[in-house]
Amino acid sequence: MELREVLQQRRSVRTYQDTPIEPHMVQALIDTAILAPSARNSQPWEFWVVLGKHRIDDLSDRAKAWLVEKVAHNPTAEAAQQRQFLATPELSLLYHAPALVLVAAPSFEKQADEDCCLAALTFMLSARDAGIGTCWIGLARPWFNQSATKAELSIPEATSIVAPLVLGYPRQWPKTQERNPATVHWIG
Ligand SMILES: Cc1cc2nc3c(=O)[nH]c(=O)nc-3n(C[C@H](O)[C@H](O)[C@H](O)COP(=O)(O)O)c2cc1C
Repeated sequence: MELREVLQQRRSVRTYQDTPIEPHMVQALIDTAILAPSARNSQPWEFWVVLGKHRIDDLSDRAKAWLVEKVAHNPTAEAAQQRQFLATPELSLLYHAPALVLVAAPSFEKQADEDCCLAALTFMLSARDAGIGTCWIGLARPWFNQSATKAELSIPEATSIVAPLVLGYPRQWPKTQERNPATVHWIG
């Protein structure tokens, strides 16, 4: 695909086919993701990969239960929104995806978050180019950063999970979405 087509046609995918994603495909997407720029070319990223719908469903259920508990008595407007979103019993936080990639920084070093975000975006664009759908699951980030979750997944405590990305072959591609016009201030 042309770059512009990839940019226009990438959409967050929330319904996946059961077809597994092969490890070599995930590796190829990661190999492209690391072409992203990073501060001082420090490349402070790692990729933790979980394959298999059932395993991911199990993580999803536990992350959701943890989040429901976390926002239950939180008085902020953001928590109220999350409560509403999570209230749907059939909602799967990780959308029954067959693959999960956690883009992570090996330490909480300054600027590593930005670098990991760029790698995550490059991963998502590269996936779209390969006909694979992705969705960034920011809601699950705090759960993946729990010590107990990291211990279970053999992720070192010092690692900062930045971008949980689910991926798989879409049941259908969402339509291209219009964006609000950019607010541009030309400084004369
Ligand atoms: C940092 C970040 C966090 C996000 N977290 C979630 C999430 O937890 N759950 C979800 O369904 N979508 C999540 N998304 C996807 C956004 O909702 C989506 O990108 C936005 O609605 C625009 O739609 P599009 O990606 O299809 O263009 C997240 C996206 C970003 C960039």
